[in-house]
Amino acid sequence: MSKQSAPIGVLDSGIGGYSVVKQVQKLLPEEDLLYFGDGAHIPYGNHAQETIVAMARYMFRFMEERGVKALLVACNTISCLVDRCGEGVSCPVFNAVKAGAEAAARLEVDKVGVISTVFTHNSRIYPEKIQALSPKKVVVLSCGCPDLARLVEHSLGDPEGMALVEDNLRQELDHMVLEDKVDCCVLGCTHYPLVGDSIHKLYPGLPLIDPAEEMARALKEHLDREKLGSPQASPGALTIYTTGDTEEYALRASQVGLGRIDKVEYYPPMELL
Ligand code: DGL
Repeated sequence: MSKQSAPIGVLDSGIGGYSVVKQVQKLLPEEDLLYFGDGAHIPYGNHAQETIVAMARYMFRFMEERGVKALLVACNTISCLVDRCGEGVSCPVFNAVKAGAEAAARLEVDKVGVISTVFTHNSRIYPEKIQALSPKKVVVLSCGCPDLARLVEHSLGDPEGMALVEDNLRQELDHMVLEDKVDCCVLGCTHYPLVGDSIHKLYPGLPLIDPAEEMARALKEHLDREKLGSPQASPGALTIYTTGDTEEYALRASQVGLGRIDKVEYYPPMELL
């Protein structure tokens, strides 16, 4: 297979990376995509750092073995540790935190809010990166959502589950929006754009930053620059692997509007000691 025809890898702890696939399918419809969601181990944000690194390396190896031409780390939690996960990966790696921080830094606003998993929150990676690029910005963090990624993963299309999602969103966002009065909010977990409609309903007029859009743009720029775009004229396919429930992954893919799904296959999870 020529390098141009190789697929693009997208990985996440679960279905959150579907928000990134959605943007890539929109911007680069002719590309083949290979998705890995580690459904057996979600949520990553509640695991210890060394465990997250080991689980992420397992997925990176999966992608390397399949010869992807670029790898999108569609998980903010893994993105916090990406420098430790990519050993032996020969393709360029794009990560969600870099994309989200760059998008936030570019906006002409004073106060940026960020909601994320507990791990991403505790790492303080977003304020560090945003302020390194745009020192005058004030960055307000939510307290970190311990359960929201998992809730989103299993609740799409289920009214009771979505009511819990909205309760969680209020807990994370009420203070930030109503008291701190942030000018915009970075969705610092790739699961959250999948419930963007709920956030818009709860906080109409709050601009949301979805790092997925920036990731897709950066990927396109790279492929154009390196002349690595897919030569095929017809739309590319999406192949999904998961260590979780294949039926649920297929259902969620159609619920969030992903197209051209070739197959959804089970892959054995890394064993945790
Ligand atoms: N989608 C992942 C992220 O962006 C969720 C992480 C988790 O599993 O805790 O951080």
